[in-house]
Amino acid sequence: MFVQGHRLATMRQWPENRIAFGGDYNPEQWPREVWADDLRLMAEAGVSFVTLGVFSWSWLEPSKGEYTFDWLDDIMDLLGEHGIAVDLATATATPPPWLTSAYPEILPVDREGHTLWPGSRQSWCPSSPLYREFALALTDRLASRYHDHPALAMWHVSNEYACHNLPCYCDTCAVAFRRWLEQRHGTLDALNDAWGTAFWSQRYTSWDDILPPRITTTFSNPTHVLDYSRFGSDTLLDFYRSEYEVIRRHSPTVPITTNFMTMSQFRLLDYHDWAPHQDVVSTDHYVVNSLEHPQAELSFHGDLTRGLAGGRPWMLMEHSTSAVNWQPVNPAKVPGGTILDSLAHVARGADTLGFFQWRQSRSGSEKFHSALVPHAGEDSDRFREVCELGAIADRLGEVLGSRVDADVAVLWDYEALWAMSGPCMPSSAIDYATAGHTIHRLLRDRGVTCDVVHPSADLSRYRVVVVPTLYLVSDEDAASIAAAAAAGAHVVVTYFSGISDANDHVRLGGYPGAFRDLLGVRVEEFFPLREQEGVALSDGGTGSQWSEDATATDAQVVTTYANGPLAGRPAVTRRDVDAGVAWYLGTLPDDASLGSLLDTVLRESGVESVVRTSPGVEVVRRRSDSGSWLFVLNHTDDACQVTASGHDLVSSTDVGPTLHLSPRTAAVVREG
Ligand code: GAL
Repeated sequence: MFVQGHRLATMRQWPENRIAFGGDYNPEQWPREVWADDLRLMAEAGVSFVTLGVFSWSWLEPSKGEYTFDWLDDIMDLLGEHGIAVDLATATATPPPWLTSAYPEILPVDREGHTLWPGSRQSWCPSSPLYREFALALTDRLASRYHDHPALAMWHVSNEYACHNLPCYCDTCAVAFRRWLEQRHGTLDALNDAWGTAFWSQRYTSWDDILPPRITTTFSNPTHVLDYSRFGSDTLLDFYRSEYEVIRRHSPTVPITTNFMTMSQFRLLDYHDWAPHQDVVSTDHYVVNSLEHPQAELSFHGDLTRGLAGGRPWMLMEHSTSAVNWQPVNPAKVPGGTILDSLAHVARGADTLGFFQWRQSRSGSEKFHSALVPHAGEDSDRFREVCELGAIADRLGEVLGSRVDADVAVLWDYEALWAMSGPCMPSSAIDYATAGHTIHRLLRDRGVTCDVVHPSADLSRYRVVVVPTLYLVSDEDAASIAAAAAAGAHVVVTYFSGISDANDHVRLGGYPGAFRDLLGVRVEEFFPLREQEGVALSDGGTGSQWSEDATATDAQVVTTYANGPLAGRPAVTRRDVDAGVAWYLGTLPDDASLGSLLDTVLRESGVESVVRTSPGVEVVRRRSDSGSWLFVLNHTDDACQVTASGHDLVSSTDVGPTLHLSPRTAAVVREG
């Protein structure tokens, strides 16, 4: 695994020659007798790393300035003696009760003005200087005490920043927001211009009059709300960086990370800004069963995380062994599901398999969240599957450091997401992720791997660039997308893209503003579709989500609307652009119609499948100088066959020329 500038494997304790396997370990929840059992079972399962102390502040500093490190010393020593690497947390994710009692001003406040009281976790205001002072003091103590401990392999700053405490609307945030706005806009005139405050008499004449976008009579100013999202992400990044700097002073070489949440339901931080500040990108992912295509979402998240890591391998810090406890209904994973989900992450570049958590809690809010050691104990099918996975992680060591190649880019941009999710849009029935997820899933069904990258990424190496609902786009990014088409790529732009600029001001003269010339399409009005509403298409398919009154000014019409107010108007267009092609989808065609369009795009652009496969059978190839590994994941309830030859590291058998997989199983074939 590569971190910025050096190899993780150079760390004293980081597991070498195997996929690191382990997870969050909370020994403070258990009497010491259980620790011995933990170490025995960790050896049995092949656990090679743990994340320690994430929520242990009240155990490390039981009262102000009184530190109790003895238990942490003991468990660090024991883990070190057993050869288990420690990813040591700064424990600053949740303040102890004495701190919030003494300084209630650090508590976050919601949009309606309610204080979010302690009693759960992460009850602190992201802008609070006081909270930061206490957090940095603890970080300093931990870093100075453990920087040279032989078990220490990595630093884990806080935990899932923003999960519960962003946005905060308190008075401390109001002051910090004004400072942030002054830095961004410079003058009040510039701010008034950026926010369009001539509308509804919102013109500001003093910085002190600006508030967080608290609950108000009706819709808030959308650019105000957008800037508040930017401010929140920047504020927590600054917090993270201050902890990073404190650790670095004591610990010059041990990698530092914080666990992202790149699963697409979490949208509060702009991880493209955060990623450059990680020594290694790490993330958490939980399968959300209520999604229509949960496994495809998992794949999307892996490709997004790899994009954040600049194409390098990344760490899966947390996922679940089986059920979670925070969905309305939480079924266990099917037998084999722990292994299958884990390998799906490794396929897309994870070099670490971490879980929340090691031993399932007896009490507390997560007592019904699965863990590597379940309530049933070691005599359980799930623990036996965990042990099997540990052995597989061992055998997968040769994959470490290898890369995933992709000819297709799907663009993802948190700012466009925030702006599109703002108040009073043409439709609240569309979601930023829908078009991108759908196209990514259909390409995955065709055995085509995508990189999910920011619009400002180098697009020159892709044969196909998908631009899904890029509502807000800067002039530079729009130019780079157009340049990719001119240079030979097939650029596929979907509805509601290119509409506004960085201040969320609409680009005038007809939609899709920034892409009007590239696409040769001009739209005058939108006809968004209601949930479940469809519009017939001339190719026999059905469009959903969106439709619009488009004119092909300089493009070939591929598909038209076949009924409704737009009958006969263009729904899908294509324009030859120098060496490439610009496609436009004014609606979201159903899977069959969109799939056949994508088949054309793939054929014309020369993008090939990793291997031929059928929907539900996922294939990804990782490659390095020393070889290539074909990951085949059968997510279906039927047996499947795929053309593959080599040695399967999962079953430890030679396979080929056809690989046969039982339902819900996987293979990792060292090819050749
Ligand atoms: C994560 C968190 C863990 C645990 C887990 C449960 O968001 O980091 O501490 O709460 O979710 O799914």
